[in-house]
Amino acid sequence: MVKVNENYLKLKAGYLFPEIAKRVKIYSQSNNSSEIIKLGIGDVTEPLPKACRDAMGKALNEMGTAEGFKGYGPEQGYSWLREKISDHDFISRGCKISPEEIFVSDGSKCDSSNILDILGKDNSIAVTDPVYPVYVDSNVMTGRTGDALINGTYKGLTYLAINEENNFLPELPQKKVDILYLCFPNNPTGATITKEELKKWVDYALQNNSLILFDAAYESFIQDKNIPHSIYEIEGAEDCAIEFRSFSKNAGFTGVRCAFTVIPKNLKGFSSTNEEIALWPLWNRRQSTKFNGVSYIVQRGAEAVYSLEGKKEVRGLIDFYMENAKIMKNKLQTAGYKVYGGDNAPYIWIKVPDKMTSWDFFDFLLQKVSVVGTPGSGFGLSGEGYFRLSAFNSRSNVLEAMERIINI
Ligand code: MLT
Repeated sequence: MVKVNENYLKLKAGYLFPEIAKRVKIYSQSNNSSEIIKLGIGDVTEPLPKACRDAMGKALNEMGTAEGFKGYGPEQGYSWLREKISDHDFISRGCKISPEEIFVSDGSKCDSSNILDILGKDNSIAVTDPVYPVYVDSNVMTGRTGDALINGTYKGLTYLAINEENNFLPELPQKKVDILYLCFPNNPTGATITKEELKKWVDYALQNNSLILFDAAYESFIQDKNIPHSIYEIEGAEDCAIEFRSFSKNAGFTGVRCAFTVIPKNLKGFSSTNEEIALWPLWNRRQSTKFNGVSYIVQRGAEAVYSLEGKKEVRGLIDFYMENAKIMKNKLQTAGYKVYGGDNAPYIWIKVPDKMTSWDFFDFLLQKVSVVGTPGSGFGLSGEGYFRLSAFNSRSNVLEAMERIINI
């Protein structure tokens, strides 16, 4: 008799975005679905940069020739892409990250879950609250938590609240934690962290032999020059942190799929006999066994992000979405909403009015003005009373959605 992974039975409800999609589907069955404006899931809407399309087209044609055809590529990614990433994203910012330390993949969501393959089951784990749900759910699925409590949190996880009182910056854990998930610019709150604040986390991790899993998928949206783009801008981070990056949001690759994870060669964990074990060979082994790499065509597209033309176009996309964020923030603030985020991140984090719950406000906006956002409580207990709007949409949709909301 086949047994299932019972950890899945501990999961609360559906994954947040499918749950939203379900409610929207029900609503659209009895309403005019063309009226609905979706500012829920952070999915890009603008066309792919021409530089990337040209590079992918060229690569596709190359694959149609006997000389240019490619079969399996390196599981870690092609060296020409890893070199570009190392130079442009790290060396240029003073971070000593070599091409070998970069593993190209098909997404940060998968990498931030798959990384658990190389980490022991007994590690204590801390996440912020609210948090990108994938970090929590992937720990639940792999049996690293206890059961869900009535309030939706899981036994065994340490939750670090981020809220208005602490400016959406978590406090260091009171007790020793082995693995810390940090995401900056933050999804969902849009908050950022300064170098001084981030240094406290790196110091904590170094002192406690902890590992920071740093999700920097939104780094390209940073406008303020003093905010770090990479955790490796902080001294010592190569000894205590893994970083996740993505081409999804900057170059519009959500449907193309390309990302990368940085595992410094120096980074160590420990065996049960307290022997130091480098994480790089473990991840390399994991990827070589379970992953066949990202397609040649897509990697050529990602490489074009670093060309002169590509950089210009990506800048244009980011400026466009950040202008959306600015419009949204200004309009909502003028209408009396308390609004956070949106300055260095494509997410606007709104305080829900009139003591409504986050899901009440979701239903209210959907029913009243056909606008879809994401309930803050879907990101965790401390997200209750908040609501996330994504700046990823066309200008006309953003303007229309704001008009509808402020005129309710
Ligand atoms: C979100 O809306 O939070 C993002 O789409 C998450 C993701 O990139 O997977």
